[in-house]
Amino acid sequence: MTDSKVIIALDFKSKQEVIDFLDRFKNEKLYVKVGMELFYGQGIEMIEEIIKRGHSIFLDLKLHDIPNTVKSAMRQLAALGVDMVNVHASGSIAMMKAAIEGLNEGAQGKTRPLCIAVTCLTSLDQTVLDDELMIHEPLEKVVLKWAENAKAAGLDGIVCSPLESKIVHEHLGMDFVTVTPGIRLASDSADDQKRVTTPKLARELTSSYIVVGRTITGASDPVATYKEVLDQFQGA
Ligand code: C5P
Repeated sequence: MTDSKVIIALDFKSKQEVIDFLDRFKNEKLYVKVGMELFYGQGIEMIEEIIKRGHSIFLDLKLHDIPNTVKSAMRQLAALGVDMVNVHASGSIAMMKAAIEGLNEGAQGKTRPLCIAVTCLTSLDQTVLDDELMIHEPLEKVVLKWAENAKAAGLDGIVCSPLESKIVHEHLGMDFVTVTPGIRLASDSADDQKRVTTPKLARELTSSYIVVGRTITGASDPVATYKEVLDQFQGA
């Protein structure tokens, strides 16, 4: 377990790349994000290896199915011992409630993983909402409504941009966590991220957790860069 609120996105293809990366950190306990590519490629063995090393895991699989299927799937994920999982808010309040039930059952009396919702993917925009999905409300209103649904279902928070953290916290309370990607140090390139924020600004904007990928994984010294990100986010 770790107290770190800086989640490193392990966007690597192979188990060996992950192990080489983690080996650099010696005794440091990290919070890492395992996404679909790594999980579908390397499976449960990869999760077990990361947990064995004492790191915390956000398993980013974005579940979306009928409530009963999501409940059963979450029962399995909680039993793996991961610390955070997620679902699509568009799956409905009933589906999100079922996710929590499954997590509680799978955790078997231990603390259940945090469960957060994806609202509108950042790859969607107003045109897609209008023309393809036939959702004619403004995107910001949709995000806030789906975040409210997540809270009503008993979820712990949402994924959003640091730039949206404040408004989410104002509407839904500081305990409702915001997990925020799109983080770069001032000296970095933005890569394919459109709206980027430094760890310091994310803290000022009330992000609960930041998700940081290439800034750390692509750095010449990932350990030093992680420390810099951590210091900025913690306000050291
Ligand atoms: O390398 P970078 O810091 O851009 O990685 C950010 C991580 O957060 C990636 O794993 C990406 O898939 C994820 N993410 C994101 N934007 C979202 C949701 C997730 O960048 N809206």
